[in-house]
Amino acid sequence: MKTVAILGSPRPKSNSTALARKILEVAGAQGAETQEFVLNKLQFKGCQACETCKTKLDHCVLEDDLTQVLEAIHQADAVVMATPSYFGEVSGQFKSFFDRTYSFLNPDFSCRLAPGKSSVFIMAQGQSNLNLYTDVHPRYEMWLKRYGFVSNHLLRMNGPRPADSVSERQDLIAQAQEIAKNLMGTATKTAADKW
Ligand SMILES: Cc1cc2nc3c(=O)[nH]c(=O)nc-3n(C[C@H](O)[C@H](O)[C@H](O)COP(=O)(O)O)c2cc1C
Repeated sequence: MKTVAILGSPRPKSNSTALARKILEVAGAQGAETQEFVLNKLQFKGCQACETCKTKLDHCVLEDDLTQVLEAIHQADAVVMATPSYFGEVSGQFKSFFDRTYSFLNPDFSCRLAPGKSSVFIMAQGQSNLNLYTDVHPRYEMWLKRYGFVSNHLLRMNGPRPADSVSERQDLIAQAQEIAKNLMGTATKTAADKW
C-alpha cells in the first residue's frame, strides 16, 4: 500500500498540510509506505498545452520537479491532495500541478493510470460557512473518476483559524484518522468521511 500526499499550501504551518500528514501518519502506522510533496518547494511549470502527451509521448514532455510527483501518482494506491481555498478555488500551486495531470490522459481521453486508486481531497478555508465552495471538490472528483480513482474522500476545514490550529479541531483529526483507516481497509462502520 503506497500513499502519496500532494501538498498545495505555501504555509509552513498549513492546516490542510497538517490534516494530510495526519492521514499519512495513521496509514504509515498501519504499514503503508508514505511519501509527500510540498508543491511550493518544487520548481515546475504549469501545462504548456503542447499536446506532446497526446501526439508523441505517453507522459508529460516537461522534465522538472513535478516529473517525480506524476510518477509517484502512477505508483500510488492512494493519493492525498491538500489545498487551501484561494478565491473560492484551489491554490495556484495545486492548480498548476493538476493541469499537468492532463498527461495522464491518452489521445482518446481514456486514462493511462492503473484503475482502482483512492483519493482524499482536503481543502482548508478561512470562511466559517461550509456551504461556500461546495462546487470545488466535485469538479476535481469528476476528473479523478476519469483517472480511474474509485474511492474519493473529502475532508474540509472551515475557519477563521490561524495557521497551525488543527489541534483545536479534534473532529477533523478524527475524520482524518478514519479516512486513513478506510484507505487501509481497517475503518470502523461509523466512518465519518464522505465518498
Ligand atoms: C490569496 C488568498 C486567498 C484566499 N481566499 C479565500 C477565499 O476565497 N475563501 C476563504 O474562505 N478563504 C480564503 N483564504 C483563506 C485561506 O483559505 C485559509 O487561511 C486556509 O485555512 C489556508 O489553508 P492552509 O492553512 O492549508 O494554508 C485565502 C487566503 C489567501 C492567502
